[in-house]
Amino acid sequence: MEKTTPIIAPSLLAANFLQLEQEVNMINRSEAAWLHLDVMDGRFVPNISFGLPVIAQVSKICKKVCDVHLMIEEPEKYAEAFAKAGAQVLSVHIEACRHLHRNIQQIKALGMKAGVAVNPHTPVNQLEDIIRDIDVVLLMSVNPGFGGQHYIEHTYTKIRQVKEMITASGSVALIEIDGGVTLQNAAAIVAAGADILVAGSTVFGSKDPVATISALRHAVTAPAAK
Ligand code: DX5
Ligand code: ZN
Repeated sequence: MEKTTPIIAPSLLAANFLQLEQEVNMINRSEAAWLHLDVMDGRFVPNISFGLPVIAQVSKICKKVCDVHLMIEEPEKYAEAFAKAGAQVLSVHIEACRHLHRNIQQIKALGMKAGVAVNPHTPVNQLEDIIRDIDVVLLMSVNPGFGGQHYIEHTYTKIRQVKEMITASGSVALIEIDGGVTLQNAAAIVAAGADILVAGSTVFGSKDPVATISALRHAVTAPAAK
């Protein structure tokens, strides 16, 4: 079987916020190509994380792609501010956007790559009329709002469905999987068609995060991958 090497995007949500500079420098030294930044507003999701001032500081020292995941209502109000703060990829939730196509055009006009995030309960066929316009499909493999949850197995089916849709439509979108990614399931997720793996607690909860990022990137496909 052909071996695919995914983009690893450590999620800063699981980092030690008292040592943010060291944590970002660790990412810089690692094989991670992206840094995943989770923004929560306490409305779209039942939690509040960090926002613009933190991302503006982090992006100054981060040498990797700043991948911002907006778990917020009315993301169109803040897209420009996130561009100024250094976001290079900006993902908005399909469930939070009444005018998704307009939101995507806005993100691209601001010079960022545009992603659409999809909650576990949302059917991926809702992406059919936007798939050719976007750069990233961010499939949630947990319910958004918290790190450290278990991967929802049905995500494998959704990855395959999105992959088929991308191939059939000629879209260039990459598939990003967010939530519950571990050293045990990384290879199967990539084998199902994922291009980008977000990992928070697996990376920052490990003894040697740089080695864990490398291990996630080179995880071997399990023979009985789902
Ligand atoms: C959840 C966030 C995730 C989270 C992943 O709402 O979108 O990015 O940080 O954390 P882990 O990898 O611990 O499941
Ligand atoms: Zn996320």
